[in-house]
Amino acid sequence: MRQSHIRNFCIIAHIDHGKSTLADRLIESTGAMRREEMSEQVMDRMELERERGITIKAKAIRLNYTAADGNSYLLNLIDTPGHVDFSYEVSRTLAACEGAVLLVDVTQGIQAQTLANVYLAMEHNLEIIPTLNKVDLPSGEPERVMDEVESVLGFSEAETLRISGKTGVGVPELLETIVKRVPPPGGDPKAPLRALIFDSHYDQYKGVIAYLRVVDGRIKTGDRLKLMGQGTTLEVLEVGYFNPRECPVSSLEAGEVGYIATGLKTVGDCSVGDTVTSLVEPAHAALAAYRPAKPMVFAGIYPTQASDYHELREAMERLKLNDASLSYEMENSPLLGHGFRCGFLGLLHMDIVYERLEREFGLSLVVTAPAVSYYITRTDGEVITVVNPSELPAPADIARMEEPWVKIRILVPSNYIGTVMEMEREFGGIHRHTEFLGHATGTEGTQRVQLDYDMPLRSMLTSFYDQLKSRTNGYASLDYEFDGYRDARLVKIDVLVNNLLVDAFSRIVPPEQAQDVGKSLVHKLKEVIPRQLFNIPIQAAVGGRIVARADIAAKRKDVLAKCYGGDITRKRKLLEKQKEGKKKMKSIGQVEVPKEAFFSVLKTD
Ligand code: GTP
Repeated sequence: MRQSHIRNFCIIAHIDHGKSTLADRLIESTGAMRREEMSEQVMDRMELERERGITIKAKAIRLNYTAADGNSYLLNLIDTPGHVDFSYEVSRTLAACEGAVLLVDVTQGIQAQTLANVYLAMEHNLEIIPTLNKVDLPSGEPERVMDEVESVLGFSEAETLRISGKTGVGVPELLETIVKRVPPPGGDPKAPLRALIFDSHYDQYKGVIAYLRVVDGRIKTGDRLKLMGQGTTLEVLEVGYFNPRECPVSSLEAGEVGYIATGLKTVGDCSVGDTVTSLVEPAHAALAAYRPAKPMVFAGIYPTQASDYHELREAMERLKLNDASLSYEMENSPLLGHGFRCGFLGLLHMDIVYERLEREFGLSLVVTAPAVSYYITRTDGEVITVVNPSELPAPADIARMEEPWVKIRILVPSNYIGTVMEMEREFGGIHRHTEFLGHATGTEGTQRVQLDYDMPLRSMLTSFYDQLKSRTNGYASLDYEFDGYRDARLVKIDVLVNNLLVDAFSRIVPPEQAQDVGKSLVHKLKEVIPRQLFNIPIQAAVGGRIVARADIAAKRKDVLAKCYGGDITRKRKLLEKQKEGKKKMKSIGQVEVPKEAFFSVLKTD
C-alpha cells in the first residue's frame, strides 16, 4: 500500500469516555469483524484471551476502508493505555501515530486525563479530531461540553464531531474525517531501517512479540536486527499485523504498523520506546531517546502461607516476562517470612500485579503499605536508596534526605475549590495555579476549575485519591506526573509488639504526624490482637522515643474452674500445664496472633 493511503491514529479519552466501544464500532463498520463475532470488546479483552488460552493482544488493528473518494485506505488504530501510571507507554503510542481522535463524554465534559492526553498529543504534533461522544444519552449536555472544548482546548464547533460509539451515529463521518484530516505517514522506504516499539508481550511459542511502527526502511522475516537503546540483537521469526486476527505478511514498509516475533525470552530485552534497526546496515540515530521504565512505588509482597514462597517466586518470574516495568528482589521479614520487595510504576500498576498474582496464579498474598524510594546521603558521604521504610538509617547517620514529588492537576466544579484546597494543605501540597474552565453553565450552576499543585508522591500513596473522590462527591478527576526529587524532613516510626520490632509496620512520615500515625497504628493492632496469658505492650517509637502505646491486658485463664473442688493432684497438674504454656510463649518471645490480624492492619493506611 502506498504511504499516501495509510492513516495511523489512536483514540484518546478520559477513563470511561468510550474508547473501547468506539474501537469496536470502527472495527465493525469497516467490516473487519461482524457484530455476531464481537462477543466482547476486541481491543480490551485480556480476560477472554486468557480463558481461551490465546496470547494475542490486539494493540494495533489494521482496518480496510473505502472512502467517499472511491479510494481504499489502510487505517491503523493503535490502542493507548488508559492510565497515568503508563504515561511513558502512552507517549510512545502517540509517537507512532499522525492523528488522534479525542473523545469527550457529553455527560462528563473535559476531565483531567482529557487534558493530559491533549497536551501529549500536541507535543507530538498529532492532528487532533475533537469528538463529542455518547450523544444518544438524554442526560448529555453537548452544548456545555462544546463550550468547554472551545474555550479550554481551542477547537471550533465546526471542526468538532458528534457521535455515539454505542449506536454508531456519526461514525461514518468520523471515518471520512480521519482520512481527510490525518496526514499520511512520512518516512523514507529506502533509508536504513528505523522502527519504534510501542508495545510488546511474551508468547510462549514465538518469544517476545514487539508491536512497532516502521518509520524508515522495511522489515522482513529473517532480517537480523538490533535495538539501538538496549543493544539487544535478534532475528525476525515472523512479520505481520492484526485485523484483529494475526495476519503474517512478508514485510512491513515505512509508514506501516504491525508486529514482529523476536524469539526473545523476556519483554525486558525488547522494551517499549526503543528503536529497532538493521544489524548489517544500521541507522545513525535512534528515533527518540530510549528511557527504561523506572519504578516509583514499592511494597513487600508475601505469601500468606510460608510454604507458597516458591510458587510466588515462579509467578513473579512469569509476570516479569511480560512486564518490563515490574522489578522485584527477595526480602526477609521476621514476621512475614520470605517474600519480595517489588517496584511498580504507580498504585494502579501495583493493584494489577497483585490481582494477577492472586487470580491467575491462585496465590493468597499480603501486601505491605506502599512506599516511595528515598535518596539518603549518610553522614559518611555515602548515598543510598531506601525502598523499605524499616531500612532507613538512624537520624544521626543521615546528612540529607530526598523524596520524589509529583505535579498534580485536579479538575472539579468550582463549589469544591475550598474542599480541595483544604485537602491539599492536609496532604502537604503546594499550590501552583488555578484556572476557571469554560463558562458558568453547568448543571450545578457552577463553573469547572483546574487546580494545579506540587505534592510529595508519598502523600499520593495514602488515602488521598479515595478522599478526593468522596469529599468532592465523585466530581474530581486527577492527573499527575513525576517531578524530580526534593529535600525531605521525615522520620521513621517503628512498631514494637511485646518489645519486638515488627519491620513490616515501619512508616516514614513528617515529624508532626508521627504521633497521630503511631497512635492509629497501635490502636488498630490492639483491636486485632487477641488477649493472651500475659500483658502485651504495643508501642510506636521514633528514634528510640516512644510516641504512642497501648496495652493488651493479660487474660488469666481460670484453669481451676473445670475442677469441681476435691482432687488436689489434678489441680496441681493443671496449674503446671498453664505455667508451661506461659513459659513457652515467653521463651519464643512471640505473641500468638492470627496472621490475618496483622494483614488487616497492614492493608489500611
Ligand atoms: P476504559 O477502558 O476504562 O478507559 O473505558 P473506555 O474509555 O474504553 O470506555 P468504554 O468503551 O468501556 O465505555 C464506558 C461505558 O460507557 C460503557 O458502559 C459503555 O457501554 C458506555 N458507552 C460507551 N460509548 C457510549 C455511547 O456512545 N453511548 C452510550 N449511551 N454509552 C456509551
